[in-house]
Amino acid sequence: MADPKLVTIITGASAGIGVALADVFADRGHSLLLVARRAAQLKAVASAIEARGRPQPQVLALDLAQPDAPARIEAELRARGLAPQFVVNNAGFGMVGHAATLDRGEQLAMIDLNARVLTDLSLRFVPSLAEHKGGILNVASVAGFMPGPGMAAYHATKAYVVSFSEALHRELKPRGVRVTALCPGPVDTEFQARAGMPDGYFPRSFSRSADRVAREGYDGLMRGRRIVIPGTDNRVTALLPRLLPRGMILWIMRLRLREG
Ligand SMILES: NC(=O)c1ccc[n+]([C@@H]2O[C@H](COP(=O)([O-])OP(=O)(O)OC[C@H]3O[C@@H](n4cnc5c(N)ncnc54)[C@H](OP(=O)(O)O)[C@@H]3O)[C@@H](O)[C@H]2O)c1
Repeated sequence: MADPKLVTIITGASAGIGVALADVFADRGHSLLLVARRAAQLKAVASAIEARGRPQPQVLALDLAQPDAPARIEAELRARGLAPQFVVNNAGFGMVGHAATLDRGEQLAMIDLNARVLTDLSLRFVPSLAEHKGGILNVASVAGFMPGPGMAAYHATKAYVVSFSEALHRELKPRGVRVTALCPGPVDTEFQARAGMPDGYFPRSFSRSADRVAREGYDGLMRGRRIVIPGTDNRVTALLPRLLPRGMILWIMRLRLREG
């Protein structure tokens, strides 16, 4: 039987940061398997990459919220003769509002996608990632460094991603598997509309383009960095919870809700 072809799996590759990550990985010579729900958008991203002279990415239209989604990715890889070298866990969403009034089921679905699916896909392919000296890029957020009244469960999911990825970075180092948590500040994507985020929720100066975030994430992963935070202002923001009392951080974060 022929050797399996190596691929990078990128979840959430139909929009935003995931599209930018697909572009960066393709431009650096990686073959891709792009995963998200919207097939038409995935195909458009794959065609645009092919039009630039890169190998055409494979696409898999899949709802990662389905409990068997990670197993289906694994089965698809086997059926298509592909072996993962890198896994990019990017799919995720946020919700703005008081946790007690936001839809509870939707918040649980967010925890499921942002944390459980990411964990499953981080662990499922480790033997292949180790064999092919690859790695895992987990998209967290600056939100992962502090509690966030107004986005309570979202911040908590990203705190999980930072903590889990840092520990996995240490555990998998001896096996030659790189693990990086990419922690962007605000990036203008479909994220804001999906989250129900009002205009002016973040100072615009903190925003970075999806392209820049993806490039810095890619470079950080390849260099074996544990954490990548694009932008000096975002790095300072991530540092504040280590310097200020927790109560003050909660007070500052609550200002976003404009409740006085
Ligand atoms: N934008 C920001 O300000 C920001 C800042 C920090 C961190 N992040 C993180 O960056 C990551 C990407 O966000 P983004 O800003 O690029 O948001 P986005 O533009 O809304 O893109 C989200 C991606 O996730 C996919 N997705 C969502 N639910 C899915 C599901 N059930 N199954 C499969 N795919 C699903 C979406 O594809 P389909 O709809 O086609 O399924 C889409 O491709 C997220 O983890 C987010 O938390 C974003």
